[in-house]
Amino acid sequence: MGQALSKIAVCGAGAMGSGIAQVAAQSGAQVIVFDIQPAAIAASEVRTLASIEGLVVKGKLGAQQAADIRKRMRWTSDLQALADVELVIEAIVEDADVKKRLFEQLEAIVGGEAIIASNTSSLPIARLGHALRKPERFVGMHFFNPATAMKLVEVVAGPATAPTVAEAVRQTAESWGKIAIPVADVPGFIVNRVARPFYAEAFTALNEAAADAATIDALFRGVGFRMGPLELTDLIGQDVNFSVARSVYDSYFGRTRFVPQLRQAALVDAGWLGRKTGRGVYSYGDEAPKPAAAFMRNDMVAPDRVRAAADLKAGAPDGFVECDGVLLGMTRGRSAHAEAVDQGKPVALLDWFKDDDGRDIAFAGSDDAASAVMADVIAAWSRPGRQVADRPGLIVCRTLAQLANAAADAVLEQVSDERGIDAALRYGANYPFGPFAWADEFGQGRLVALLDAVADETGEAMYRPSPYLRKFA
Ligand code: NAI
Repeated sequence: MGQALSKIAVCGAGAMGSGIAQVAAQSGAQVIVFDIQPAAIAASEVRTLASIEGLVVKGKLGAQQAADIRKRMRWTSDLQALADVELVIEAIVEDADVKKRLFEQLEAIVGGEAIIASNTSSLPIARLGHALRKPERFVGMHFFNPATAMKLVEVVAGPATAPTVAEAVRQTAESWGKIAIPVADVPGFIVNRVARPFYAEAFTALNEAAADAATIDALFRGVGFRMGPLELTDLIGQDVNFSVARSVYDSYFGRTRFVPQLRQAALVDAGWLGRKTGRGVYSYGDEAPKPAAAFMRNDMVAPDRVRAAADLKAGAPDGFVECDGVLLGMTRGRSAHAEAVDQGKPVALLDWFKDDDGRDIAFAGSDDAASAVMADVIAAWSRPGRQVADRPGLIVCRTLAQLANAAADAVLEQVSDERGIDAALRYGANYPFGPFAWADEFGQGRLVALLDAVADETGEAMYRPSPYLRKFA
């Protein structure tokens, strides 16, 4: 094959199918959109044309280009119209039996060489492919919502998928301007599997009252995420996000690393599904949620202390500076309390933060006096310090470490390689950096030690470092 396919059909004119069809047509492909519901077809056509028109208004497309794109697209409820296509992308309801029936019908209509791809987000490609007479022509092509904006496509080869088929859809997706990453046929593929701790750790922190929701979200925005984990679940919908968590957990036969969060289950039970119901983690309609007041003691900053903190490296135990009798350092996975018991002195710890801007930094102390010293130091950097509960690995560092841990497991289990996983999370979940890039910056040895310390102090085996991390530490 060796080149991008240009005669495309999309089955399902819903949110995903319409977006995928538009992407293909904008890249020069001829596209037929098929749906069984006339209302869905009409709505898809109206929405797509409005979206293309919007691009013209913004100056991203010329009037002639837009007219050409419109000419390349057509909508139909007649499956026979798909007879000549080279690639069918299925994006109908997430129901294996309904999808299988469609594949049987499709195989009776399309040519012997035509590729059939599914945009399923949770069904095994192996199971769907089993329904085809020629399973070697079947492949997963998992786009992200909204398909017009999100760059990632996970290309999922099932056990029977021909390598040439996977390669043809990979090249086709790349020719549409996507980042197409080959992925093994495992539950959640890359993004929905590796991203689980991003949400789970936030609900755990909330459940332990480590900080209020707005503070947790602000801390993640502070290290470059476009949205914090909790506000993101409100946007996605608690029901949708929880059902992905459940499905991944069940599919891995209850592996503790993927355990869903009771705190989120309670939101779903209460019908607090997020923005769409006006209430989720946050209430909508009132004013936007605000983080707890920053622990800023600008009036009380003691410059001498701060200067002392910078100077007093000598004599303090490894990993700390000493200031006013308090040991200050970065979290190493143990709580400040546990560190203080070991050191025989009060300890205050910083969460992971980025130094290149003035955003929030979380910290915790083994006692109030230790917290106050750390608050002074952070205030002297002119950054909002947010005091959070003293817990192993604090909030941001523990979450990023557990994301790297999940990513390492995925490499160990051949889901993808480090580059593929980093790209998937950047382009499929909008992360500011991939988990491996973060682990490199943080230090592999330091990461393994941190995860072991969190596992020891929490007693939760799910924090134990992946063997893949230990091997390369
Ligand atoms: P949707 O509900 O917006 O659209 C589904 C469309 O399929 C509807 O228009 C429906 O009329 C049509 N349909 C149902 N049965 C059909 C059949 N037998 N033949 C032809 N058309 C049929 O759903 P959405 O959100 O677009 O999802 C579609 C697929 O994409 C699902 O498999 C979903 O898991 C997957 N997906 C969804 C994402 C999302 O964020 N919504 C992201 C990635 C994948």
